[in-house]
Amino acid sequence: MEILRAENLVKTYGTGSNTIRALDGVTFSIENGEFVSIVGTSGSGKSTLIHILGGVDEPDSGKVYMNGQDVFARSRSQLAIFRRRQVGIIYQFNNLIPQMTVKENIQLPALLEGRKVEENFYQEILGQLELEGRENDLPDMLSGGQQQRVAIGRTLINNPQVILADEPTGNLDMRNTQKIINLFKHINKWFKRTIVLITHDQEIALQTDRILTIENGRIERDVPTVGGRA
Ligand SMILES: Nc1ncnc2c1ncn2[C@@H]1O[C@H](COP(=O)(O)OP(=O)(O)OP(=O)(O)O)[C@@H](O)[C@H]1O
Ligand SMILES: [Mg+2]
Repeated sequence: MEILRAENLVKTYGTGSNTIRALDGVTFSIENGEFVSIVGTSGSGKSTLIHILGGVDEPDSGKVYMNGQDVFARSRSQLAIFRRRQVGIIYQFNNLIPQMTVKENIQLPALLEGRKVEENFYQEILGQLELEGRENDLPDMLSGGQQQRVAIGRTLINNPQVILADEPTGNLDMRNTQKIINLFKHINKWFKRTIVLITHDQEIALQTDRILTIENGRIERDVPTVGGRA
């Protein structure tokens, strides 16, 4: 079943002769439960695409459908709920709050909504992220990989159907990168979450089900991998 569809997305920045066409007619469909990677050179439009899929930025034209519903046809309040509940974005540069502990950073989305976090679920996430015992630490006491895992935890706590991750392993060494990819595989397989992962690393992309290649704001290739599910 299709969960997410992009239809002819166009996004430009700037005006006149300075116009940059960041997305130039992007169309694809993602099935529920798929683990898809998006690769492309710097400036090809990957982050722009993720922000639009996540409803935080609007396209100039084109549509995004989530579960068959036109995301940008929603009212402002429905769009806000969509952003908080149905999708989760993990940003290219983690946006942890330095004055907040690991626990507070992870629970932030729920705290902002005045929702109580179920303790068992929180503990499970903490365990999966291998952050037990670090709950009361501040972000600057953690390694880059641990910080990135806190950012992932913040996304997981909302249990979104679709996780959009923008180069979450960009600044990590190979070992920590692989740990995070393994975590995504686990979330994909056991929690049946759909994952869209941006990466510039072909080795990582080959571990997903399918690779979309974007160049100059266009999908140049869309191919399933051989070993993705292995
Ligand atoms: N807010 C903005 N204002 C003007 N131009 C922008 C803005 N955001 C992105 N762009 C331009 O749009 C194009 C696509 O940018 P985008 O951030 O989507 O690339 P990317 O594929 O994520 O690159 P990277 O791999 O370096 O993160 C680039 O040419 C970029 O300079
Ligand atoms: Mg980017």
